[in-house]
Amino acid sequence: MASKRGALIVLEGVDRAGKTTQCKKLVEALQQSGRPAEMMRFPDRTTTIGQLISSYLEKKSDLEDHTVHLLFSANRWELVPLMKKKLEQGITLVVDRYAFSGAAFTSAKPGFCLDWCMKPDVGLPKPDLVMFLQLNPAEAALRGQFGIERYETSAFQKLVQQKFQLLMKDPSVNWKVIDASQNIEDVHDNIKSHSLKAINTAERTPLGELWK
Ligand code: ADP
Ligand code: TYD
Repeated sequence: MASKRGALIVLEGVDRAGKTTQCKKLVEALQQSGRPAEMMRFPDRTTTIGQLISSYLEKKSDLEDHTVHLLFSANRWELVPLMKKKLEQGITLVVDRYAFSGAAFTSAKPGFCLDWCMKPDVGLPKPDLVMFLQLNPAEAALRGQFGIERYETSAFQKLVQQKFQLLMKDPSVNWKVIDASQNIEDVHDNIKSHSLKAINTAERTPLGELWK
């Protein structure tokens, strides 16, 4: 019998909702319970494409809006062979942002429609579970000031949040909304319980294709 595949688990959410904190805690908890797990994040700034994106986000370079959108998508596609290999090896991948951030952020810019923004990511490995860490802007503000990177303003983040709400209406994706205003341990318990269910289901179902 072929070995069981790992699950593809994505965390999305507004800025400072706790995505990175929770991805790390989930990977640790899964590993401690004997389930192979690794963390990934998008953008992955370590690749050649990722370095172009990083320089853009740090405002060290300017890129045309369509171009940078396609670079974010290309940055995911270039990692697909590695992701598939790890999933086939039974490793669960816990991913900090994915195609949903891609579509939500670009479609929040003037002149872009959500449909166009989703297109380049159609066919990516489909997450078995996408958890949206929901936090209202006032509470997010208590967790620190915005940084200096591109997109880090409350007006833009508000538009991004609206785009995420539209994406969450899509029943073809297994969305779970997580109340990110709870303390770190309570958010973690919630995330872990959804993840364990997704890992069990993924063992019995083939990996899907996103938005197809
Ligand atoms: P994100 O990756 O979504 O931007 P982070 O995980 O980097 O968020 O967390 C942003 C900040 O908020 C960090 O200082 C982190 O320690 C803090 N934080 C994360 N989760 C919580 C929580 N549940 N309650 C209070 N503070 C939190
Ligand atoms: P990230 O490196 O996760 O930074 P942070 O931890 O500060 O949130 O994300 C960088 C920024 O890039 C963030 O503002 C979201 C944005 N983004 C896109 O615009 N498109 C994408 O496809 C992705 C994955 C992120």
